[in-house]
Amino acid sequence: MGTPYEGKGIGVCCRKIPPVRRVCMKCLVTSARPYDRAFLEKANDNRHELFFVESRLDRSTVSLARGFPAVCPFVDDRLDAECVRVLFEGGTRILALRSTGYNNVDLDAARSSGMTVMRVREYSPFAVAEFALGLMLVLNRHIHRAYNRVREGNFLLDGFLGFDMHGRTAGIVGTGKIGTALARILSGMGCRILGFDARPSPACLSLGMEYRPLGSLLAESDIVSLHLPLQPETRHIIDREALDRMKPTAMLVNTSRGGLIDSAALVDALKARKIGAVGLDVYEEEAGLYFRDHGEENIDDDVFARLLTFSNVVVTGHQAYFTRDAMEEIARTTLSNLDDFEASRKNDNTVCP
Ligand SMILES: NC(=O)c1ccc[n+]([C@@H]2O[C@H](COP(=O)([O-])OP(=O)(O)OC[C@H]3O[C@@H](n4cnc5c(N)ncnc54)[C@H](O)[C@@H]3O)[C@@H](O)[C@H]2O)c1
Repeated sequence: MGTPYEGKGIGVCCRKIPPVRRVCMKCLVTSARPYDRAFLEKANDNRHELFFVESRLDRSTVSLARGFPAVCPFVDDRLDAECVRVLFEGGTRILALRSTGYNNVDLDAARSSGMTVMRVREYSPFAVAEFALGLMLVLNRHIHRAYNRVREGNFLLDGFLGFDMHGRTAGIVGTGKIGTALARILSGMGCRILGFDARPSPACLSLGMEYRPLGSLLAESDIVSLHLPLQPETRHIIDREALDRMKPTAMLVNTSRGGLIDSAALVDALKARKIGAVGLDVYEEEAGLYFRDHGEENIDDDVFARLLTFSNVVVTGHQAYFTRDAMEEIARTTLSNLDDFEASRKNDNTVCP
């Protein structure tokens, strides 16, 4: 039997009423490149009011954010205590980071002022793990040099001798989401995998990973890949002493944070031929250098400039995360972080309070 209203046009909606769009938060997106804008605008679908600036956020540019309840920084932005204080005074209540790492935010300052900090805790760990593998293959088989040589009409193979990764020992320093994704790839290639982490990962153990103290991992590995977050305890975890422990033929790859390596010590190790090859997607003084074109200027940083001169070093500008899949996920999560903050909901991405 039908309802009493059926056929009488009462209570039956014939016209589709468009959903009411409520603009939730006014958000300033800093260090915004055109691709950031494209992915965020697509995921936003007009629900938050987004403003984009290319400027890097730091003490000198913080006034740009005055009056914005939400600010969306990236890894290059430097949110020290002074910057956080001025943001809070200007009305900002949430920092919605578009990154996993939050080492560029003074969390004590955020906590004491009552600022919420959210991040993108997880997005395609495969993007970074696959890039780390890419650096390993480029360095091992000298693909960066082969590319140039072939373009000059030179097809000699001299100097390009590599090694089979199958059967070699790879040490993964930090076996969280990215380290585990890399462990899967490398164990699939037939590497013996060693790990270092405060909390061993069951997934890595089931792949046959052997956990070691850092010193032993460095001494035994042919390839060392860094996947720890940058914290006071992990800063310069690869220092002169750590480099001395490594095999002189070993390869070191860093796709995590530049501050994990003492770069001056690394230059000395390269000059002394104490290390075989180095792949760096991150650099400790990259803020203000990366994500920009400095082609018309000189690079003032002598340590960085020296790193670029070694033929067994490949440097990329913090691009390991940069896949379509990761960008979509970062945009989606950043906007749902804003939704949750607006609705006073906590989620796993809340760093503080
Ligand atoms: N280059 C890029 O584009 C890019 C992109 C994303 C992430 N990252 C970097 O990669 C890092 C790792 O990301 P993730 O998603 O795998 O993080 P995660 O939190 O899943 O893993 C980090 C691991 O480090 C371990 N750890 C932390 N501090 C430690 C310490 N002091 N000693 C020993 N172990 C310690 C943790 O137990 C954890 O297993 C991030 O912190 C970020 O800095 C870089």
